[in-house]
Amino acid sequence: MLAAWAAIRMLNWVLWQPRRLERILRSQGLKGTIYRPIRGDLKDIARFDAEACSKPMPSLSHDIIPRASNFLSRKAETYGKENKVTFHWMGPLPRVLITDPDQTREILANKTGEIEKGEFNYMIRYLVRGVVQLDGEKWAKHRKILNPAFHLEKLKRMLPAFSSCCDELVDRWEMMAGTTGKEVDVFVDLQSLAGDVISRTAFGSNFKEGRKIFELQDEQAHIVVGALLKSHIPGYKYLPTKTNTRVKAIDKEVREILLRLIRKREESMRSGDAKNDDVLGLLLESNLQHRREYGDVGLTTDEMIDECKLFYFAGQETTSALMTWTMVVLSMHQDWQERARQEVLQVFGKEKPTYDGLSQLKTVTMILYEVLRLYPPVLGVQRQVLKSLKIGDVVYPPGAMLVLSVVQMHHDPDYWGKDVLEFNPERFAEGVSKASEKNAFFPFSGGHRICIGQNFALIEAKLALCLILRRFSFDLSPAYIHAPHTVITLKPQHGAPIILHRL
Ligand code: HEM
Repeated sequence: MLAAWAAIRMLNWVLWQPRRLERILRSQGLKGTIYRPIRGDLKDIARFDAEACSKPMPSLSHDIIPRASNFLSRKAETYGKENKVTFHWMGPLPRVLITDPDQTREILANKTGEIEKGEFNYMIRYLVRGVVQLDGEKWAKHRKILNPAFHLEKLKRMLPAFSSCCDELVDRWEMMAGTTGKEVDVFVDLQSLAGDVISRTAFGSNFKEGRKIFELQDEQAHIVVGALLKSHIPGYKYLPTKTNTRVKAIDKEVREILLRLIRKREESMRSGDAKNDDVLGLLLESNLQHRREYGDVGLTTDEMIDECKLFYFAGQETTSALMTWTMVVLSMHQDWQERARQEVLQVFGKEKPTYDGLSQLKTVTMILYEVLRLYPPVLGVQRQVLKSLKIGDVVYPPGAMLVLSVVQMHHDPDYWGKDVLEFNPERFAEGVSKASEKNAFFPFSGGHRICIGQNFALIEAKLALCLILRRFSFDLSPAYIHAPHTVITLKPQHGAPIILHRL
């Protein structure tokens, strides 16, 4: 009896439900791939992407989609550019790809409970848990407790922590560069910088222990990415594979370190000698405030651990990608590198950058936006349909995944014009909303779930860029291979060797 029930459930999951969803989507005129049981398009996605990644881009072009997301690029060619909504299959789940900015905004603004983040793949859950994967009231509570730590006023107080990490890096580079110039893989160093910034801003004086978390999380990210496609195979998670065992062990170790840091901080708060100007202190304070106001436990220690772990992943991977692509692109476009340097010198001279000064940097901001447009660290944002809902002309059935394809919207000439693939920061001269038709700029997502760390990331990137531009001019090393590649975020597959010249 139990076996029959399990068999029916399985058949429904891998066969009947996908076929039913496919019929509903096609009957409304949507184009997409034909469902193939269990794997869907996983094999093609892996094959096409591996093929694309086996060779570098033919030139230093910014037309990265065919390499960074080859499957999507081929599907866009098959279905035609005019089709802003298509679908394909991630295992038995239909993924509806949306590249229309108005529909994207409507989906991101939806608070009705018809669309939510939905289930995260179990492998991804080892990497990210916490606010980013919560929904409904639980999400609202976590976000409310986290928000104060990311207020501009609080971020301003963290500027010295940002500064000391950036200073350490440029001092080291200066020693290495000497007077003749030196090749450095800036990707590696900027990843460490972003990890250090999170460690220092999150854990204040305990940042060295934070560094260990960063190393473990880095290893975790590599394992998870390697196993991601397999993890969609039903039942894979129960197998005692080497991968499954190692991800669990890393998770345990990271949680233990974070637990120790949290306990230590709680203790010093109780004894009154803690300074609460780092993220962990602000989080604990905000949690206490919540407890007083609502009389519930607020975030449990386990939930607090999830959030701290999330900052490492969400903040380090993305911000280091932004800073790396900025250095790569400014090496390709020396005129903009010089314009940015002149602005930095004009605003700060030899003085230490201040928060107010950073807010005056117009050219640097335009450059960062243009890099976020061409090389968005997060290529797409996902939501799951829980109750039938209409977006545009289509009624989406429960179970469909909606993927808002940030990179495709950022590279669409319909929104950005014929020079869409050119690096032209000038398009942001009058701000983000005037830069494109239909306001098609979503590097930090949008709506109520917009990235909580966007100001944090922009302050960090601006500050690092200021200090780098003042001390070095830089260009691409002959060893640089232009190979944008998606491993959760958009990365340079073969690193970013850049030659630094001391100024
Ligand atoms: C260039 C840097 C960054 C980019 C491009 C970026 C991008 C994003 C995007 C696209 C989302 C939305 C995901 C969705 O809607 O499903 C997001 C959410 C989030 N980001 Fe960032 N992020 C960056 C930096 C940071 C930093 C520095 C932190 C923290 C230290 C951070 C913490 C978060 C968190 C906690 C969320 C979840 C918010 C929620 O669901 O309420 N991010 N980020």
